Order: sequence, then C-alpha cells, then structure tokens
Amino acid sequence: MELEFRELQKKDHARVKKIINETWNYGNYSDHPGQVEAVLEIYLRNCLLRQNYSRVALDNGVPVGLILGRIDRDFRSWKQIPHLFPLIWAGLKFCLRIFSGKKFIQQALEEHRAYNKLLRERKGTFDGEVVFFIVSPNERGRGLGKKLVFEFLDHCRRKNLNYIYLFSDTSCNYGFYDKNGFLRAGETTARDYSGDVSEPMKVFLYEYHLEN
Ligand SMILES: CC(C)(COP(=O)(O)OP(=O)(O)OC[C@H]1O[C@@H](n2cnc3c(N)ncnc32)[C@H](O)[C@@H]1OP(=O)(O)O)[C@@H](O)C(=O)NCCC(=O)NCCS
Repeated sequence: MELEFRELQKKDHARVKKIINETWNYGNYSDHPGQVEAVLEIYLRNCLLRQNYSRVALDNGVPVGLILGRIDRDFRSWKQIPHLFPLIWAGLKFCLRIFSGKKFIQQALEEHRAYNKLLRERKGTFDGEVVFFIVSPNERGRGLGKKLVFEFLDHCRRKNLNYIYLFSDTSCNYGFYDKNGFLRAGETTARDYSGDVSEPMKVFLYEYHLEN
C-alpha cells in the first residue's frame, strides 16, 4: 500500500460516492439507479457544504478514506457556494423521481430530527465537528481511520478548539469512537428505513475533549 494524504478534489468524488454506497448500500432505499446516484450526490454535497477541513487518503492515487471536519470559528458560508449548485441540480433530478425516493426522505427527516434533539441538549458546548468519516471496506482495520481522525484532532488542537462532536448511529462503526477516546454524550432513537419494514435504530452524539 502506497499511501498519500491531501485535500479532497472534485476528481475524487466518484470514488468517494462508491465507498459510501458500498458501506450503506443506498440501493436498499430505492431500486432506481438514477435516484441512488442523485442521493449519493446530495449526501456528499451536503457534507461538503458543512466542512472546512478535508483529508483524503489515497492508495496509489485512488481514494480509500476520507474525513471532513469543521472548525466553526473559521467557517465562511460563502466559500461553500461551489457545492450549492451541484446540490440543487441533484435535488432537481431527485424530485423528478420523487416517488422512488420516499424512503430517502423519511430517513433524512428522521436523522435531522434526532440530530437536532441531541444537539439542542448540548447547545453552545462545541467549536467543531467531524462531519463525515469513512474508510473503504477493503482497507479497514489497518489503522487508516485512526490516522485520519488523529490528524484532524491535531489540527483542532493547533486551532485551540476545546470540544468537537460528531453524530453516529447503529448503521455505522461507532465502536471506533468508544475505542479511540471519544465520549458518548447523548443517545436517542430513530427509525431505519433501509429494510422492507422500518426498524428502530440508535443515534449517538459523541464528543472529544481536546486538551491543549
Ligand atoms: C469507522 C472507520 C472509518 C474506522 O476505520 P479503520 O481504518 O477501519 O479503523 P482503524 O483500523 O484505524 O482502527 C483504529 C483502532 O480502532 C479499533 N476499532 C475499530 N473499530 C472498532 C470497533 N468497532 N470496536 C472496537 N475497536 C475498534 C481498531 O481495532 C484499532 O485499534 P488499535 O489502535 O488498538 O489497533 C471504518 O470502520 C468505516 O469506514 N466504517 C464505516 C463507515 C462509518 O461507520 N463511519 C463512521 C460514521 S460516524
């Protein structure tokens, strides 16, 4: 494995979306491939709109891991404008086939409600967020995730942050956070719409205290 780390570039997006789909199989929410592609684009752009730190891990030039983070103090909304138009465009494509996207909407609303509830209880505590974090299934368990997260935590320390947070749930590998010094600061339930019938799932708020 020949690893290299750099900021995320537009040319990485297709590969990142593939990793997202391999991990959460968006085909479970809709059997229309065009709709799955639109949602992957919406999901990625929505994460990009909320970040100002990106680190992609490349193996021989191919993206195999990504972390997106946000330092609240440095965040400038206008810098995110380039992600807005692709997001709107993907949203329009989604609307054309809205009936095959019903489960995506239910899932998004459910997660939005759970995130708001968890964050409301801790309002004003945090000064940064891990917005998105993934390693390609084939590359997991080799220390790559830890490298990406700890590099972001070092960046946060250099910026003198105190507390950062992230959301996770039972469809994710949340055990990683328990093992690597994050504290579970909140927990709620939501519905998981990926199956034929919706199932309950747990949604977690994790925090990390940066000792400067
Ligand atoms: C979470 C994720 C990015 C971790 O990446 P990874 O490269 O597999 O993790 P690493 O190999 O760096 O693991 C670092 C350490 O955490 C431990 N760890 C990882 N998952 C763990 C788990 N579920 N329970 C306990 N320990 C775990 C590893 O054993 C390793 O321990 P060590 O330092 O003692 O060797 C990866 O599992 C992933 O992409 N999962 C799917 C997407 C996801 O859940 N993302 C998070 C969304 S909130």
